[in-house]
Amino acid sequence: MRKFLIAALTALAGSTALADEFTEADLERWAAQFESVAQEGRNLWTSPELGTNGVACAQCHPNAANTHPETYPKFQKQLGRVAQMWEMINWCIRNPLEGEDLAPGDPRMTALLAYIAKERRGVPLEPGKH
Ligand code: HEC
Repeated sequence: MRKFLIAALTALAGSTALADEFTEADLERWAAQFESVAQEGRNLWTSPELGTNGVACAQCHPNAANTHPETYPKFQKQLGRVAQMWEMINWCIRNPLEGEDLAPGDPRMTALLAYIAKERRGVPLEPGKH
């Protein structure tokens, strides 16, 4: 079994090196795309456009404070079950902002998630933590 695993891993390492070719220019382009989406998230964060009452995320979560992305998925008492972070983002859109849920794959949701993750870069994952 162990022998088989090592052989399989060696084969995999060899083939990913071949299959996954990319250049410095690709890396720069991908990093720039990420930065631009995170910046869009920052813009949404500080604007009232996700809601109907003039409130913005940044008023209660300046620089994404108290969002704890590293603790998801986790039990959320507002929802009564283990939830993902986008569900709590929608909870805040519906409640403090009096707005409407974003679909999980909405580019604006991706932008908010990118901004939060960027602000908390380097924090160790602690799923389920309170
Ligand atoms: C009026 C203040 C207020 C505003 C505005 C607000 N939130 Fe929250 N947010 C809260 C409170 C209160 C909680 C619940 C804290 C808890 O019990 O985990 C929370 C929780 C969260 C969490 C989960 C935090 C955790 O520790 O698990 C996320 C993510 C979040 N908010 C994102 C947002 C986003 C995105 C927006 C803007 C669309 C927003 N919030 C706007 C007050 C606010």
